[in-house]
Amino acid sequence: MEFFSVVNARRSVRKFLSEPVGRDVLEKIVAAGLEAPSGCNMQLRQYIIVDDPAVLAELAVASNVFKTAPAAIVMLIEPKAATAGGEFWIQDISAATQNMLLAAVDLGYASCWVEGQIQRDEDHLRKVLAVPSELRIWSVLPVGKEDGQAKRPQKSTPDEITHYNRFGMSYYLSCRC
Ligand SMILES: Cc1cc2nc3c(=O)[nH]c(=O)nc-3n(C[C@H](O)[C@H](O)[C@H](O)COP(=O)(O)O)c2cc1C
Repeated sequence: MEFFSVVNARRSVRKFLSEPVGRDVLEKIVAAGLEAPSGCNMQLRQYIIVDDPAVLAELAVASNVFKTAPAAIVMLIEPKAATAGGEFWIQDISAATQNMLLAAVDLGYASCWVEGQIQRDEDHLRKVLAVPSELRIWSVLPVGKEDGQAKRPQKSTPDEITHYNRFGMSYYLSCRC
């Protein structure tokens, strides 16, 4: 797909068809995460690809999204300062996540950034997924073919959130002509 078509087609999808997702597809989505920027290139991220229905059922304890998802990718991060000058791990995992959501769409699949619900159940999921204590389970991305068509929620319009040169200057006010 053309880049902006992918950006505009991406939606948070929470209901999936039962059709399985090939490991090649899931690995391509992870590969898109690997290409994301990270503070000082520390790449403190790791991923667990889940396609075992028993493990997906445990993920569904945290979110109903995993009741229908045929696969998921668990996003792990080592919450460590990248340098003395900054701690960037939340940004790092977020950059990888967005790359992966877009990659899923480009490959003909749907996903959703599930984070709030995961963090509430992190202790349970840590046991189920055997995640070592130095890593946080930050979010989980379901992956599958969409069942139905998620609606585009209301979004800000460019003129509501874009300023030229100084805050409050619209395109027309900033025009020199
Ligand atoms: C940091 C973050 C946490 C999120 N956590 C959840 C979540 O726990 N469960 C969920 O269903 N959606 C979650 N979402 C998805 C948002 O609800 C969704 O992106 C938003 O409603 C806009 O819809 P859209 O993605 O279709 O544009 C999360 C998104 C972000 C960026």
